[in-house]
Amino acid sequence: MSATEKLIIFDTTLRDGEQSPGASMTQEEKLRIAKALERMQVDVIEAGFAIASQGDFESVKAVAESIKDSRVCSLARAVDADIDRAGEALKNATAGRIHTFIATSPIHMEFKLRMSPDQVVEQAVKAVTRARNLCDDVEFSCEDAGRSEIDFLCRVIEAAIDAGARTINIPDTVGYAMPQQYGDTIRQLIERIPNSDKAIFSVHCHNDLGLAVANSLAAVTCGARQVECTINGLGERAGNASLEEIVMAVKTRADFFNIETGINTREIVPASRLVSSITGFPVQPNKAIVGANAFAHESGIHQDGVIKHRETYEIMKAEDVGWNANRMVLGKHSGRNAFRGRLDELGISLKSEQELNDAFQRFKDLADKKHEIFDEDIQALVSDTQKAT
Ligand code: KIV
Ligand code: ZN
Repeated sequence: MSATEKLIIFDTTLRDGEQSPGASMTQEEKLRIAKALERMQVDVIEAGFAIASQGDFESVKAVAESIKDSRVCSLARAVDADIDRAGEALKNATAGRIHTFIATSPIHMEFKLRMSPDQVVEQAVKAVTRARNLCDDVEFSCEDAGRSEIDFLCRVIEAAIDAGARTINIPDTVGYAMPQQYGDTIRQLIERIPNSDKAIFSVHCHNDLGLAVANSLAAVTCGARQVECTINGLGERAGNASLEEIVMAVKTRADFFNIETGINTREIVPASRLVSSITGFPVQPNKAIVGANAFAHESGIHQDGVIKHRETYEIMKAEDVGWNANRMVLGKHSGRNAFRGRLDELGISLKSEQELNDAFQRFKDLADKKHEIFDEDIQALVSDTQKAT
């Protein structure tokens, strides 16, 4: 029986996440997030873009010097100055990685880079070679791969692997790909590039059409073995693939993916809260895994089911991702069973079935006027019931 394969989790909250307008972080804040990612056992932490500013350089350096259990990475365009700056910031890392990139789509090559495809291949090779002289671990990305031609991707990637890149990243930079098509691209690249077995294929998806997670997972089923993602899906424009969704999809559906991450999932909610409080970006209540309602049940039918057997309406355990427990929200859809359960938890015992019926009726009347009924509301309505009987 073959051993389960490993999916490398590459977190870019501190680099692509920080590129989200309004999400810039201080060095001290980046260090706190990096420590949370290390506790979570993230494999690679992209700490920043060392050439972007003196502050970014210092942050990458500080993260590289304090993180021991995750690999620390800096981004660099495929130009000498960027690569040298990344190498300098990472020089004291226990395990470092230089991540260099150049655009490969026709629109980027013609209008942004003003370079021919031949020049792009030449520059990619030069960049990877230079990075390899500074660091053993080099990742190469084809920016806007989602809109690049497959023949050209094969050509530039083969050359980058020959020059020493050991991770090849295929970004869907503008979130344009569709899951099946993107998965197919990954499969074709691995099949067609003669030296593809020398590199790990990685994916990096943006969420412009809300497909970043679906695209990343489709790529995993087609051979990608590294996913780049961010906590809470933070990132440029509509964001990046969210780490918590990728990790929990792979874990919850191990039967389907047959691959595992090394992530300590109990650290997910604490990390999500930390990133939200540092950036000031709230997490929407219905966000998968980390939203306040992700493990909350309000309807009577669901509450009754969960009380009888948790798995009737839960596919994951709240505790496994770092919540204290699932949550029964008492509201107008709740039933008698959940109401009675909350009374028990509050240590309230009613004398008779009649008192319970009265209290439940008062609860329903109140729930029609209020979104959520809190413990204090229940205590008040029970004492009103007791006074009336
Ligand atoms: O989205 C993108 O293409 C990137 C690269 C620099 C990896 O963030
Ligand atoms: Zn990106």
